[in-house]
Amino acid sequence: MRIAIGSDHAGYPLKQALVPWLEDRGYEMQDLGTYSTESVDYPDYARAVAHAVAEGRADRGILICGTGIGMSMTANKVPGIRAALCTDPYMSRMSRRHNDANVLCMGARVVGIGLAEAIVEAWLDGEFEGGKHARRVGKIDATDAECPD
Ligand code: RB5
Repeated sequence: MRIAIGSDHAGYPLKQALVPWLEDRGYEMQDLGTYSTESVDYPDYARAVAHAVAEGRADRGILICGTGIGMSMTANKVPGIRAALCTDPYMSRMSRRHNDANVLCMGARVVGIGLAEAIVEAWLDGEFEGGKHARRVGKIDATDAECPD
């Protein structure tokens, strides 16, 4: 599985910890930045990762900022993206099972590395259940078409 990952300066230390951890588990990581703790704007990285997923250059995306809020707000504006801001493994597992989330957002000022690993693990292990959930996810995606150009 190809995973695009991005962060701002606040999320940088957690991203740096997660990339090798995920590579050790066999995931193909695409690190789209940022590459230091110098202050940057989180939407630039949210857009890069969201477009990588929406355009099929990555299978999934992970975004990290201070709270995860700005990343999720931005990513969810890209058509086809279902970004889930998760603070525990139950949320991340359910975001896969019921919402077919294709981007995971986390806040590096909210979760530590151990909890972040557990959130990511549950998210990657979670399988979309389909059925009535597919109908509901279809309605999420149909909302893209309601937006003016
Ligand atoms: C940066 O200070 C902070 O605003 C950002 O990382 C994020 O939390 C925004 O949602």
